[in-house]
Amino acid sequence: MKILVTGAAGFIGGNLLAKLKETGISSIGIDSFTNYYSPDMKEKRVNQLGISEIVKTVDIGNEDELRRVFKEFKPTHVVHLAAQGGVRASKVDPKPYLLSNQVGFLNTLLISEEMGVEKFIYASSSSVYGEGVKTPFKESDQISAPKSLYALSKLSNELIAKHFPVKSTERIGLRLFTVYGPWGRPDMAIYRLLASSLLNTNFELSAGQDLKRDFTFVDDVSKVVLDISSSSDKDLSSNIFNVAGGKPYTIKELLKTMEDLGIHIKVNQKPQDELDLNLTHASTDKIQKFGISVPETTLKSGIEQTWSWINSQSKNDISKWLASSV
Ligand SMILES: NC(=O)c1ccc[n+]([C@@H]2O[C@H](COP(=O)([O-])OP(=O)(O)OC[C@H]3O[C@@H](n4cnc5c(N)ncnc54)[C@H](O)[C@@H]3O)[C@@H](O)[C@H]2O)c1
Repeated sequence: MKILVTGAAGFIGGNLLAKLKETGISSIGIDSFTNYYSPDMKEKRVNQLGISEIVKTVDIGNEDELRRVFKEFKPTHVVHLAAQGGVRASKVDPKPYLLSNQVGFLNTLLISEEMGVEKFIYASSSSVYGEGVKTPFKESDQISAPKSLYALSKLSNELIAKHFPVKSTERIGLRLFTVYGPWGRPDMAIYRLLASSLLNTNFELSAGQDLKRDFTFVDDVSKVVLDISSSSDKDLSSNIFNVAGGKPYTIKELLKTMEDLGIHIKVNQKPQDELDLNLTHASTDKIQKFGISVPETTLKSGIEQTWSWINSQSKNDISKWLASSV
């Protein structure tokens, strides 16, 4: 097995590539170090995770460059994570969502097929469910109304993966639910909450405290990817899976979990952003049925590990990275 990870300087990709390296699986990563949030954080991430030598700077929008990497490395598996993230930012600057998330996705799938890659595992998102779907969200639910351009880009990835002609590449989509952990993204709530505690600043909360999220620890995502990559189950092909533990928490409960761990947050409540879903809650039935590891890290343990990581970084960097994102 030879795995190519796209978006490898990113939060999930960096953690995954480090795990693959540790497991002894031949793997490389590519990333274009976009400035959606601090490229300096991405540099430090790959350095500190010990993967700098296997991460190459490549833009998936550049088909020729991408093809060259595939030809050199000859991956049997591709884990496609490169994308422009963020629900709110997609309203302000839509272009990268179409270039990286649509054209980049198409290029990566097209070249995977061309080069005879066996498995193409790609990141979709819980945001595809939109509002009004009954909970827990099931992969078989009818979804029709994504709330943001970001969600639309992920839903369209699922449709491209379904309709793009198959020669030999199995496609498996992962609907990831609010992933957090060490080296987490500075535009996401858990990083911002912990950073505000570390830096002793007020936290501007633009979500209602009853808003609920199925938080997923990053190492659990790596486990799912490893299970799927190494599985010989042919029925996995063309499937889409929720990746979450199926135990959502309200923001109020999240703040309480932090408080109980001695992490004090000074919250400034603001009106909720209209693009945020009120609730995400995954059904884990399908992932269990296929014998894939269900995310099981408790919120308390995940927050403890993330807090410990944030304290291992300089306050100056944490503050700089926070300021680099929306
Ligand atoms: N973190 C979450 O909670 C979450 C939830 C649902 C889905 N996802 C999806 O999981 C994947 C990874 O997310 P993440 O949280 O690690 O985000 P991230 O922003 O930390 O990582 C994505 C990486 O992709 C790279 N990238 C973007 N455009 C590129 C391009 N054109 N060419 C090459 N590289 C490019 C970026 O530089 C970045 O390092 C994304 O597809 C994201 O949409 C994440």
